[in-house]
Amino acid sequence: MRQEIDLLKNYPKSKRDVTKRFETKSEQDRLKAREFGRDFFDGERSCGYGGYNYHPRFWENVVHDFVDFYGLKSGSRVLDVGCAKGFMLYDLKRLYPEIEVRGIDISEYAISHAKEEIKEYVQVGDARQLAFEDRSFDLVISITTLHNLERKDMKKALGEVMRVTKKDAFITLDAYRDEEEQRAMEAWNLTALTMMHTEEWKRFFDECGYSGDYYWFIP
Ligand SMILES: C[S@@+](CC[C@H](N)C(=O)[O-])C[C@H]1O[C@@H](n2cnc3c(N)ncnc32)[C@H](O)[C@@H]1O
Repeated sequence: MRQEIDLLKNYPKSKRDVTKRFETKSEQDRLKAREFGRDFFDGERSCGYGGYNYHPRFWENVVHDFVDFYGLKSGSRVLDVGCAKGFMLYDLKRLYPEIEVRGIDISEYAISHAKEEIKEYVQVGDARQLAFEDRSFDLVISITTLHNLERKDMKKALGEVMRVTKKDAFITLDAYRDEEEQRAMEAWNLTALTMMHTEEWKRFFDECGYSGDYYWFIP
Protein backbone atom coordinates (compact mmCIF):
# COMPACT_ATOMS: atom_id res chain seq x y z
CA MET A 1 0.00 0.00 0.00
CA ARG A 2 1.46 3.34 -1.04
CA GLN A 3 2.68 5.52 1.80
CA GLU A 4 4.47 8.78 2.43
CA ILE A 5 7.56 7.94 4.46
CA ASP A 6 10.81 9.78 5.07
CA LEU A 7 13.37 7.05 4.49
CA LEU A 8 16.00 9.75 3.98
CA LYS A 9 15.63 11.03 7.54
CA ASN A 10 19.16 9.87 8.25
CA TYR A 11 20.69 11.57 5.21
CA PRO A 12 22.77 14.51 6.53
CA LYS A 13 20.98 17.83 6.20
CA SER A 14 22.88 20.44 4.20
CA LYS A 15 22.52 24.18 4.49
CA ARG A 16 21.25 25.58 1.19
CA ASP A 17 21.60 29.24 0.33
CA VAL A 18 18.38 29.49 -1.67
CA THR A 19 18.56 33.30 -1.97
CA LYS A 20 22.09 33.19 -3.36
CA ARG A 21 21.12 30.50 -5.88
CA PHE A 22 18.12 32.59 -6.96
CA GLU A 23 20.23 35.74 -7.36
CA THR A 24 23.08 34.08 -9.22
CA LYS A 25 21.66 31.30 -11.37
CA SER A 26 21.41 32.03 -15.06
CA GLU A 27 19.62 30.31 -17.92
CA GLN A 28 23.04 29.11 -19.05
CA ASP A 29 23.60 27.44 -15.65
CA ARG A 30 20.29 25.63 -16.03
CA LEU A 31 21.12 24.47 -19.54
CA LYS A 32 24.53 23.22 -18.46
CA ALA A 33 23.06 21.48 -15.40
CA ARG A 34 20.49 19.67 -17.52
CA GLU A 35 23.26 18.02 -19.54
CA PHE A 36 24.05 16.02 -16.37
CA GLY A 37 27.72 16.10 -17.29
CA ARG A 38 30.86 17.26 -15.53
CA ASP A 39 29.43 20.76 -14.91
CA PHE A 40 26.46 19.33 -13.00
CA PHE A 41 28.39 16.92 -10.80
CA ASP A 42 31.84 18.39 -10.41
CA GLY A 43 31.64 21.95 -11.75
CA GLU A 44 30.65 25.18 -10.00
CA ARG A 45 27.93 25.17 -7.31
CA SER A 46 25.84 27.44 -9.58
CA CYS A 47 25.47 24.49 -12.04
CA GLY A 48 24.81 21.66 -9.62
CA TYR A 49 26.55 19.79 -6.82
CA GLY A 50 29.82 21.72 -6.96
CA GLY A 51 31.67 18.42 -6.38
CA TYR A 52 29.79 15.11 -6.06
CA ASN A 53 32.13 13.02 -3.91
CA TYR A 54 31.78 9.86 -1.88
CA HIS A 55 31.62 9.93 1.90
CA PRO A 56 30.11 7.11 4.00
CA ARG A 57 28.27 9.60 6.21
CA PHE A 58 25.83 10.33 3.35
CA TRP A 59 24.27 6.94 2.65
CA GLU A 60 25.38 4.47 5.30
CA ASN A 61 22.52 5.08 7.68
CA VAL A 62 20.00 5.48 4.89
CA VAL A 63 20.80 2.05 3.42
CA HIS A 64 20.26 0.42 6.84
CA ASP A 65 16.82 2.06 6.87
CA PHE A 66 16.03 0.74 3.35
CA VAL A 67 17.06 -2.78 4.37
CA ASP A 68 15.06 -2.72 7.61
CA PHE A 69 11.95 -1.10 6.19
CA TYR A 70 11.69 -3.32 3.10
CA GLY A 71 12.95 -6.48 4.85
CA LEU A 72 15.72 -6.98 2.27
CA LYS A 73 17.61 -10.22 2.66
CA SER A 74 20.16 -12.40 0.96
CA GLY A 75 19.40 -12.52 -2.77
CA SER A 76 17.04 -9.51 -2.72
CA ARG A 77 17.41 -7.44 -5.90
CA VAL A 78 17.50 -3.63 -5.73
CA LEU A 79 17.50 -1.17 -8.64
CA ASP A 80 18.46 2.51 -8.27
CA VAL A 81 17.04 4.68 -11.08
CA GLY A 82 19.21 7.80 -11.38
CA CYS A 83 22.08 6.23 -9.43
CA ALA A 84 24.60 8.90 -10.51
CA LYS A 85 28.09 7.69 -9.47
CA GLY A 86 26.54 4.78 -7.56
CA PHE A 87 27.40 5.99 -4.06
CA MET A 88 24.21 4.73 -2.42
CA LEU A 89 24.52 1.35 -4.15
CA TYR A 90 28.17 1.16 -3.18
CA ASP A 91 27.27 1.50 0.51
CA LEU A 92 24.36 -0.93 0.17
CA LYS A 93 26.62 -3.57 -1.43
CA ARG A 94 29.48 -2.89 1.01
CA LEU A 95 27.26 -3.29 4.07
CA TYR A 96 25.01 -6.05 2.66
CA PRO A 97 27.12 -7.98 0.11
CA GLU A 98 24.44 -10.64 -0.27
CA ILE A 99 21.99 -8.14 -1.79
CA GLU A 100 22.07 -7.85 -5.60
CA VAL A 101 22.24 -4.29 -6.85
CA ARG A 102 21.81 -2.56 -10.20
CA GLY A 103 21.80 1.11 -11.12
CA ILE A 104 21.04 3.15 -14.19
CA ASP A 105 21.63 6.81 -14.96
CA ILE A 106 21.24 8.95 -18.08
CA SER A 107 24.64 10.53 -17.38
CA GLU A 108 27.58 8.96 -19.16
CA TYR A 109 29.81 11.20 -17.06
CA ALA A 110 28.40 9.89 -13.77
CA ILE A 111 28.49 6.24 -14.81
CA SER A 112 32.06 6.50 -16.08
CA HIS A 113 33.04 8.19 -12.79
CA ALA A 114 31.27 5.61 -10.62
CA LYS A 115 33.28 4.06 -7.83
CA GLU A 116 35.39 1.24 -9.26
CA GLU A 117 33.89 -1.31 -6.86
CA ILE A 118 30.37 -0.66 -8.15
CA LYS A 119 31.06 -0.14 -11.88
CA GLU A 120 30.02 -3.66 -12.88
CA TYR A 121 26.55 -3.05 -11.43
CA VAL A 122 25.74 0.33 -13.02
CA GLN A 123 25.02 1.34 -16.58
CA VAL A 124 23.83 4.25 -18.70
CA GLY A 125 20.08 4.07 -19.10
CA ASP A 126 16.89 6.10 -19.24
CA ALA A 127 14.18 6.02 -16.59
CA ARG A 128 11.58 6.19 -19.38
CA GLN A 129 12.61 2.79 -20.71
CA LEU A 130 14.27 0.46 -18.25
CA ALA A 131 16.31 -2.34 -19.79
CA PHE A 132 15.11 -4.95 -17.30
CA GLU A 133 12.55 -7.73 -17.29
CA ASP A 134 9.11 -7.34 -15.73
CA ARG A 135 9.09 -8.03 -11.97
CA SER A 136 12.85 -8.47 -11.82
CA PHE A 137 13.51 -6.43 -8.63
CA ASP A 138 12.29 -6.63 -5.05
CA LEU A 139 12.79 -2.90 -4.57
CA VAL A 140 13.19 0.00 -7.02
CA ILE A 141 14.55 3.23 -5.56
CA SER A 142 14.72 6.59 -7.31
CA ILE A 143 16.00 9.60 -5.41
CA THR A 144 15.53 13.16 -6.70
CA THR A 145 15.57 11.96 -10.30
CA LEU A 146 12.13 11.49 -11.85
CA HIS A 147 11.09 15.16 -11.56
CA ASN A 148 13.76 15.83 -14.20
CA LEU A 149 11.27 14.54 -16.75
CA GLU A 150 8.30 16.25 -18.38
CA ARG A 151 4.96 15.18 -16.92
CA LYS A 152 4.14 12.76 -19.78
CA ASP A 153 7.59 11.16 -19.49
CA MET A 154 7.23 10.95 -15.71
CA LYS A 155 4.12 8.89 -16.32
CA LYS A 156 6.16 6.51 -18.49
CA ALA A 157 8.93 6.35 -15.88
CA LEU A 158 6.51 5.60 -13.03
CA GLY A 159 4.98 2.89 -15.22
CA GLU A 160 8.46 1.45 -15.75
CA VAL A 161 9.16 1.44 -11.99
CA MET A 162 5.91 -0.48 -11.44
CA ARG A 163 6.70 -2.87 -14.30
CA VAL A 164 10.17 -3.93 -13.11
CA THR A 165 9.39 -4.22 -9.39
CA LYS A 166 7.82 -7.31 -7.89
CA LYS A 167 6.53 -5.37 -4.96
CA ASP A 168 8.24 -2.32 -3.49
CA ALA A 169 9.34 1.08 -4.72
CA PHE A 170 10.52 4.26 -3.03
CA ILE A 171 10.91 7.60 -4.82
CA THR A 172 11.63 11.18 -3.76
CA LEU A 173 10.51 14.18 -5.77
CA ASP A 174 10.79 17.98 -5.80
CA ALA A 175 7.67 19.28 -4.08
CA TYR A 176 6.19 22.06 -1.97
CA ARG A 177 3.39 22.39 0.57
CA ASP A 178 2.68 26.13 0.44
CA GLU A 179 3.51 29.27 -1.52
CA GLU A 180 6.66 30.01 0.45
CA GLU A 181 8.05 26.54 -0.23
CA GLN A 182 7.03 26.87 -3.86
CA ARG A 183 9.04 30.11 -4.16
CA ALA A 184 12.06 28.47 -2.51
CA MET A 185 11.74 25.42 -4.77
CA GLU A 186 11.61 27.57 -7.89
CA ALA A 187 14.58 29.63 -6.68
CA TRP A 188 16.63 26.52 -5.95
CA ASN A 189 15.67 24.39 -8.96
CA LEU A 190 18.17 23.89 -11.76
CA THR A 191 17.09 20.73 -13.53
CA ALA A 192 13.53 19.69 -12.60
CA LEU A 193 10.87 19.91 -15.30
CA THR A 194 7.95 18.77 -13.12
CA MET A 195 7.53 20.23 -9.64
CA MET A 196 4.19 19.99 -7.88
CA HIS A 197 2.34 20.54 -4.65
CA THR A 198 2.49 17.37 -2.54
CA GLU A 199 -1.29 16.83 -2.96
CA GLU A 200 -0.98 17.21 -6.73
CA TRP A 201 1.79 14.60 -6.77
CA LYS A 202 -0.48 12.17 -4.92
CA ARG A 203 -3.25 12.68 -7.50
CA PHE A 204 -0.65 12.16 -10.22
CA PHE A 205 0.44 8.87 -8.62
CA ASP A 206 -3.20 7.71 -8.80
CA GLU A 207 -3.39 8.75 -12.45
CA CYS A 208 -0.19 6.78 -13.21
CA GLY A 209 -1.11 3.73 -11.14
CA TYR A 210 2.01 4.25 -9.00
CA SER A 211 1.57 2.27 -5.78
CA GLY A 212 5.08 2.51 -4.29
CA ASP A 213 6.20 4.72 -1.40
CA TYR A 214 7.36 8.31 -1.72
CA TYR A 215 8.82 11.33 0.00
CA TRP A 216 9.67 14.90 -0.91
CA PHE A 217 12.70 17.02 -1.59
CA ILE A 218 11.92 20.47 -0.20
CA PRO A 219 14.96 22.84 -0.10
C1 LIG B 1 19.82 15.19 -8.35
S1 LIG B 1 20.67 13.85 -9.11
C2 LIG B 1 20.39 12.55 -7.90
C3 LIG B 1 21.44 11.48 -7.95
C4 LIG B 1 21.31 10.38 -6.87
N1 LIG B 1 20.03 9.68 -6.97
C5 LIG B 1 21.48 10.99 -5.50
O1 LIG B 1 20.46 11.08 -4.78
O2 LIG B 1 22.59 11.36 -5.13
C6 LIG B 1 19.57 13.43 -10.44
C7 LIG B 1 20.09 12.28 -11.28
O3 LIG B 1 19.11 11.93 -12.26
C8 LIG B 1 19.77 11.54 -13.44
N2 LIG B 1 18.78 11.57 -14.54
C9 LIG B 1 18.18 12.65 -15.08
N3 LIG B 1 17.32 12.28 -16.04
C10 LIG B 1 17.33 10.91 -16.09
C11 LIG B 1 16.66 9.94 -16.86
N4 LIG B 1 15.77 10.28 -17.81
N5 LIG B 1 16.94 8.64 -16.65
C12 LIG B 1 17.85 8.27 -15.70
N6 LIG B 1 18.53 9.16 -14.94
C13 LIG B 1 18.27 10.46 -15.12
C14 LIG B 1 20.91 12.56 -13.52
O4 LIG B 1 21.95 12.20 -14.39
C15 LIG B 1 21.36 12.60 -12.06
O5 LIG B 1 22.34 11.63 -11.77
